[in-house]
Amino acid sequence: MSKLTVCDHPLIQHKLTIMRKKETSSHEFRELVKEIATLMGYEVTRDLELSDIEIETPLEKTIGKEISGKKLGIVPILRAGVGMVDGFLSLVPVARVGYIGLYRDPETLKPVTYYNKMPKDISERTMILVDPMLATGGSLIEAVRELKNSGAKSIKAVCIVGAPEGIKAFQEAHPDVDLYLAAVDRCLNDHGYILPGLGDAGDRIFGTK
Ligand code: PRP
Ligand code: URA
Repeated sequence: MSKLTVCDHPLIQHKLTIMRKKETSSHEFRELVKEIATLMGYEVTRDLELSDIEIETPLEKTIGKEISGKKLGIVPILRAGVGMVDGFLSLVPVARVGYIGLYRDPETLKPVTYYNKMPKDISERTMILVDPMLATGGSLIEAVRELKNSGAKSIKAVCIVGAPEGIKAFQEAHPDVDLYLAAVDRCLNDHGYILPGLGDAGDRIFGTK
């Protein structure tokens, strides 16, 4: 079973409550997605490997630590995942960014992939997949499948709100991929929307609808 971490820091919970409110504007919503992604990024990057490096301070030589290996990859699921990219880049500005284009067919709720553009050497990078919503889990499950088919070996998945149904489906489909959430909500409605949720994340971020 993959590990589930719920990042319930008070700042994250406070910001998420504002995001949920129906009267929150797109402008505020977008900012909050970015801020929550930054705060979650702190937890998601906690176990990055370090190596020793010899440096010289103005006073003497010493051994410092630096993050080892190839630069991280951040992969938003289009569209809503794009809202989380800047938050991660504010912590790891040198990260590479790949894109997976997926949408949920409104009738079947099944994911349809329409785009996949990854950085080079993804088998040597930790790839962090971001999407604010984990509802049925179909999109995230398919996106991880795409990443694995593209060669990724070390993947973490980061969503803001998850439904129990989607979390279970994801953990069963990809037991090797750790999942990070800011909140676990109650359930899905008949249209696959998360309750209480925050509505359609893509529409709220980009002001469509
Ligand atoms: C939303 C969301 C996820 C997906 C989650 O995207 O951003 O990608 O739904 O649902 P699932 O867990 O049931 O697959 P949507 O398909 O609405 O596309 P959009 O980002 O282009 O609006
Ligand atoms: N996608 C969203 O944007 N919101 C939901 O509640 C479910 C899927």
